[in-house]
Amino acid sequence: MLFSILTLFPEAIESYQDVGILGIARARGLLTTRTVNFRDFARDRHRTVDDRPFGGGPGMVLKPEPITEAIEWIEQRFGPHRRIALTPDGAPLTQAIVEEFVSPTEDGAEPLPVLLLCGRYEGFDERVLELHEFERLSIGDYVLAGGELPALVLLESVSRLIPGVLGDGRSALEDSFTEAADGGLDHPHYTRPRVYRDLEVPPVLLDGDHSKISAWRRAQREDRTASRRPDLTGDRGEA
Ligand code: ADE
Repeated sequence: MLFSILTLFPEAIESYQDVGILGIARARGLLTTRTVNFRDFARDRHRTVDDRPFGGGPGMVLKPEPITEAIEWIEQRFGPHRRIALTPDGAPLTQAIVEEFVSPTEDGAEPLPVLLLCGRYEGFDERVLELHEFERLSIGDYVLAGGELPALVLLESVSRLIPGVLGDGRSALEDSFTEAADGGLDHPHYTRPRVYRDLEVPPVLLDGDHSKISAWRRAQREDRTASRRPDLTGDRGEA
């Protein structure tokens, strides 16, 4: 799986991409990232990438030329990509969307490499997203200073689903928001010691009766989802 990341801060991506699960996926050659700084495509002496907004108002807007030329350079060298802009006005990123990145394609062909465009300032000149087809993704209803953290969020959430990355692939299949959890929250987990500061592990987990354990875990998932995330109950996506 291949990701090309267009950013003004490649060092932000590079400083995190070798950590933990994402680092394992990269070290095993299961996920490849390449970062491209679109400032390298600015033409003027000052390597300008932003300008004042037409119509006035605060903040600066990312100019269309450096980004567009960077996209075209990447695609000329490495072929067409699935293009995604990280932006607060995108579709909310969900586990279902993350899973789709690692699902087999309809025709069984290799998936396209993914281009992640990280914005800064007030965002991109809208024409960038009109000249080339883009999906837009948001990681939540709050505004960050740029798309680098959202890009890393997407990369990490995808990397842990790639077969061969997690020690026990089942752990990713049973997490919160997965089908196994009915799209809701995960059940609580316990490990040794059996008693810690007077708090006991629920006895049902200790006697090896797997059907009772499954029933208990299911009830826990349902209770937690109903009380903490009622928006996730009912049909997924309709909340
Ligand atoms: N850029 C700034 N804020 C963002 C968000 N919440 N999601 C995706 N990209 C962003």
